[in-house]
Amino acid sequence: MCGIVGYIGFRDAYPILINGLKRLEYRGYDSAGVALISDNDEHLNIYKEKGKVAVLENSLADKDLSGTIGMAHTRWATHGEPSSINAHPHLSQSGRLAIVHNGIIENYASLKKYLAGKGFTFKSCTDTEVLVQLIEYMQQTYNLCVAQATRYALRKVVGAYAIVVMDKEHPDELVAARKSSPLVVGIGEDNKEFLIASDALPIAGYTHNMVYLNDEEVVLLRRNQPMSVKNLKNEDVNIDVKQVDIDIDKLEKGGYDHYMLKEIFEQPKAISDCMRGRLLQKKHQIVLSAINLHREQLINAKRFIIIACGTSWHAGLIGKQYIENYCDVPVAVEYASEFRYRNPVIMPDDVVIAISQSGETADTLAAFQLAKAHHALCFGIVNAVGSSVARESDTGIYTHVGPEIGVASTKAFTGQVMVLALFSLALAKAKGTIGQKDYEEIIDELSIIPEKIKVVLQQNDRIKEIAKTYTYARNFLYMGRGYNYPVAMEGALKLKEISYIHAEGYPAAEMKHGPIALVDAEMPVVFVATHHQLYTKIISNIEEVKARNGRVLAVVTQGDTSVRKLAEHIIEVPPTIAPLAPLLSVIPLQLLAYHVAVEKGLNVDQPRNLAKSVTVE
Ligand code: AGP
Ligand code: GLU
Repeated sequence: MCGIVGYIGFRDAYPILINGLKRLEYRGYDSAGVALISDNDEHLNIYKEKGKVAVLENSLADKDLSGTIGMAHTRWATHGEPSSINAHPHLSQSGRLAIVHNGIIENYASLKKYLAGKGFTFKSCTDTEVLVQLIEYMQQTYNLCVAQATRYALRKVVGAYAIVVMDKEHPDELVAARKSSPLVVGIGEDNKEFLIASDALPIAGYTHNMVYLNDEEVVLLRRNQPMSVKNLKNEDVNIDVKQVDIDIDKLEKGGYDHYMLKEIFEQPKAISDCMRGRLLQKKHQIVLSAINLHREQLINAKRFIIIACGTSWHAGLIGKQYIENYCDVPVAVEYASEFRYRNPVIMPDDVVIAISQSGETADTLAAFQLAKAHHALCFGIVNAVGSSVARESDTGIYTHVGPEIGVASTKAFTGQVMVLALFSLALAKAKGTIGQKDYEEIIDELSIIPEKIKVVLQQNDRIKEIAKTYTYARNFLYMGRGYNYPVAMEGALKLKEISYIHAEGYPAAEMKHGPIALVDAEMPVVFVATHHQLYTKIISNIEEVKARNGRVLAVVTQGDTSVRKLAEHIIEVPPTIAPLAPLLSVIPLQLLAYHVAVEKGLNVDQPRNLAKSVTVE
């Protein structure tokens, strides 16, 4: 959610900052701003606007944009409506300090009252402005440098923050800190320049040398000097420089109209990348170092608990079926947000799997930390390399599907399902709970899934035509059973996220227990009805919808004749075995949601109110 970019060095900061904000746009935000200390008069210039980064950029034509130190922000409002006043950067009372902040200061009200008692006044409704005033208060009261004042102030703060602070009296330094909200420092050549950002994307292209800050660390960045990191107790912290390689070309749209469409079409390649080096088809072998390293703990686990949110939670529901079917061990799938506050029973021989594309989802991270505190083995299934969930993991598997920019998750989902399949099969083999014949059959089928996804994608134009006939709808139902039940839920989530049409996903048998009351001639019902378990029962469910004049759109296996007779529209997918059906049947639902949203003229990559990475709870 929201984004931060900062720069200190020898180049003009503004182009780096504005391009960095554009790289972070996918995260979702409502206003944007930038602060620069002018080369001309050392003035601290702050410009901010409600709306998109382009609105900010267009408003700056005649402004002083000089300066080799600066910071920029995209805000996702938590306290105070989206407006130019509430947008960041915020200034301290004296105008000396400026701050950008991602996160929430939970005790801002009591701090504000305290500062008001000391004569501070506030221009915005944000919690962030309270923090910059608190830093100034510490600076003035104890006569501190800005880094020390920041540490003093943060000791009083309850909540989540990634912040960058500038002091106009010290145009040669930037101070930044984090807690529960990511910040990465990029180190330029010979420490001549530093970038700082809320993820690695704005930094990629300038340097590969990056340092991920940990919670309650404060970094001081000065030109031509090594960075220094201290914790809130003022103790020096070791700096762990990582080599991060991000392929910039992969971040561009590559000729597609939207990132989401590009990412849907990338799935055959993304899934192959995910299997590369792990699935050795000829030898019928799955190689996962995570399993080799923690073999005994994984084999002896009494229970797996999967924690995730949104799409990743849907992948978890499929993972549950894999692990229970192949490994003979119970699996609970939990919403991370509920789990973390429920006082759950976690035993030392539990394995807790966190699934997260971004690796920065606040609830997933907190739930994972809770599991760690209970000494469970923490296993991460993450896409973003070096992210917080990845770093909290005892072990895990990266999905390796490449950066996902579209807010609606697509290739990350199929990557997660693929990793869960590989993991459960490898563990089942190690435990001896799967027969050789079944094991080989699944491995053979996994290896040809990318080709089958390509066949589904060939129907894009047809799905586009079908989508046009459903843009009128205000509600949709999605039904599936077995492995396709989470796919129905995922299809519904995709549609509501980007087309703003209300949609619900259900196990098809639940229809009679409530949702069928909604069916009339206006109601589209999407059935995921591939040739697998309970196929005949799904046909009965389709009949029930038809009997009430509902409009049926069905995803079926190639050559299906029974559903064809009942459905208004069908979309065929190649045949596969039941456990791998989700990897094919979800693709038409992603495309359907995409085309309905495009047809309605909506912003597919940045849907309203949503953020790519939900770093506040
Ligand atoms: C997916 O389309 C959504 N934008 C959302 O539900 C997402 O899956 C959820 O926020 C979890 O994100 P994560 O995988 O990065 O943890
Ligand atoms: N809580 C701050 C605000 O509402 C920061 C929100 C953000 O993370 O962008 O301004």
